[in-house]
Amino acid sequence: MIKPHGSDTLQPRYVADDAARAQLVREAESLPSLLLNSAAAANAVMLGAGYFNPLRGYMNLADALSVAANMTTSDGLFWPVPIINLTKETGATVGSRVALRDPNVDGNPVLAVMDIETVESVSDEQISAMAGQIFGTNDAGHPGVATFTQLGNTLLSGPIQVLNYSYFSAEFAGTFQTAVEIRSEIEQRGWNKVVAFQTRNPMHLAHEELCRMAMERLEADGCIVHMLLGKLKAGDIPADVRDACIRKMVDVYFPANSVMVSGYGFDMLYAGPREAVLHAVFRQNMGASHLIVGRDHAGVGDFYGPFEAQTIFSENVPEGALEIEIFSADHTAWSKKLGKVVMMREAADHEKDDFVLLSGTKVRELLSEGIAPPPEFSRPEVADILMAYYQSENS
Ligand code: ADX
Repeated sequence: MIKPHGSDTLQPRYVADDAARAQLVREAESLPSLLLNSAAAANAVMLGAGYFNPLRGYMNLADALSVAANMTTSDGLFWPVPIINLTKETGATVGSRVALRDPNVDGNPVLAVMDIETVESVSDEQISAMAGQIFGTNDAGHPGVATFTQLGNTLLSGPIQVLNYSYFSAEFAGTFQTAVEIRSEIEQRGWNKVVAFQTRNPMHLAHEELCRMAMERLEADGCIVHMLLGKLKAGDIPADVRDACIRKMVDVYFPANSVMVSGYGFDMLYAGPREAVLHAVFRQNMGASHLIVGRDHAGVGDFYGPFEAQTIFSENVPEGALEIEIFSADHTAWSKKLGKVVMMREAADHEKDDFVLLSGTKVRELLSEGIAPPPEFSRPEVADILMAYYQSENS
């Protein structure tokens, strides 16, 4: 199986030993507390689950600035997005141990214990420079920029030990998996060439066909549909509904044991190209040999060019920095002439009108009016689940 990023074996920050974890939980009771923001909590979950291997905790300012500017930590590790605990809390002291509390679970239980190595203040200029580098814009209308620039001006760095997986393990039991669990499942299935599909949507026909095309063209042993289970912007479809759609589609339309449905606990950044590279890093950590990157991957609005998340890999990711390979896909759409989903570039004799092209907004409009999206766009079983969701929202 493909090696993790930056080390020979996966070194997740979750304390797997029951006795050691129970001991830490007891210790945490008497430690000073810090209430995390959702972004820092999501980073802790990813560190715990092994997805952010080989990082041991939150980055300091030098690393965060260097990662934002050149996708490399100060000691030379390739890394695309700062993994930080940037906060409004100012009380922490260097050398202390603190209990990091979970903002997303009632009662704010302890999510992790952190050894604070540095407490640094970050100027508004540094935050705005990093936002520009990560998101390619400083526009406050970009949801990622809006979140990032409101986190605070104090940066706490240091290693963490993770005690649980926040709300993900209970709320998405059976779908949330750690990188450790996915590696072990890949091994059990006897897969070697494994293609990962990132998604934050219910899967429509274009998504389904992308997975099928990637599997066929790469002659992959299997595909992992790996959905985001964390926070999204308003208007995006909740994870439980997406999960139901994806499972239905996989059950009905893919041969048994060819597709694994799985999810990870992270909030969407909407960082387009940079997020695509982060996606590649953590898919390598979970054991995927390939990641599908299609049109406007991890994008939002018109902030990124449709294929910028592909060109970043050829233009800005140094040779050998990652072992995982990218399956770059063109815009896929239903061809009226051929009666199937195709990559538009490969249908050279087609005019625009020969394709069924529906925007996300148009589909949402149809659904909220109780109209099913056409079968050229969505499987009927998926459309049913979405219609039920939209109707319950509107009633
Ligand atoms: S994402 O933010 O998670 O990337 P989404 O779930 O819509 O959003 O997309 C999942 C993957 O499918 C991404 O790699 C994206 O580029 C790709 N994709 C979605 N729709 C299309 C399409 N019509 N043509 C080509 N690629 C697509």
